[in-house]
Amino acid sequence: MKALIPAAGLGTRFLPATKAQPKEMMLVVDRPAIQYVVEEGLASTADEVVIINSPYKTAIEDHFKPHPNLVKTLRARGKDDLAAKVEHVSSLNVSYVYQCDALGLGHAIYCAHEKTGDEPFFVLLGDVLVPDNNILPAMQAVSNEHGGASVIAAMPVPEDQVSRFGIIAGEPVSEGVWKVDSLVEKPSVDEAPSNLAVFGRYLLTPRVMELLAEAKPTVEGEIQLTDALDALLQEEEMYALIVDPEDGFDTGTVDTWIETNNILYQRRKAQKTCCPQ
Ligand code: G1P
Repeated sequence: MKALIPAAGLGTRFLPATKAQPKEMMLVVDRPAIQYVVEEGLASTADEVVIINSPYKTAIEDHFKPHPNLVKTLRARGKDDLAAKVEHVSSLNVSYVYQCDALGLGHAIYCAHEKTGDEPFFVLLGDVLVPDNNILPAMQAVSNEHGGASVIAAMPVPEDQVSRFGIIAGEPVSEGVWKVDSLVEKPSVDEAPSNLAVFGRYLLTPRVMELLAEAKPTVEGEIQLTDALDALLQEEEMYALIVDPEDGFDTGTVDTWIETNNILYQRRKAQKTCCPQ
């Protein structure tokens, strides 16, 4: 089973910061954002993390490559802890496929269809960070309870933000789990069927890849994953796991990126100052 991380986007919400530096490489406390996401994918039941990259965003691949000279220099200076951090990054098992044109999230995911084959797969969007790596296992458990159905993460958002997200309609079936009836990408407040936003984590059946092969551009002129998921509902059941705001953090806008940095920095400081139990 693969975990796919789409990373070929243009990072427009962060321009001009993302003109030369990929958005995925922006610092969150002590690591580039994408490192959290790769670590989360590898901590799940996935056996491989596949980054769907743009050929122009070479900094992402440089980050995960070995850097023996840097490690040697750090060790020679007695900075073994830093050398270990550098070695850890290049020990993460990542592979790449490429999306040459930014034609939308649905198109990006389809670029990895040869990797996923006829298996279910995870999708992890880089805008969402899950520092405790606990959402994918919870989604897998919901899928197992419902015969291997697709499961998406969702989170309530304020009304004035529904137009930034994919929004679901459905009904609760158990504590923190909804059965999804339909999905709509970036609706206006008036058209939104709820305030439950698709929150950057998906566990999908292989049928989604077949639907993406035929998907046409819609909202914002892009091929949308949300449309393929809405089409999937004609054939298969789908569930949504409602994510606790303590577990998942959005970094998709400058405001939420700064807020997430603040929260995770305070958390790290609190961990460091705690007495050993
Ligand atoms: C994407 C998805 C959207 C989802 C959002 C979560 O939108 O298309 O359905 O709610 O991620 O972060 P994007 O942020 O790429 O515009």
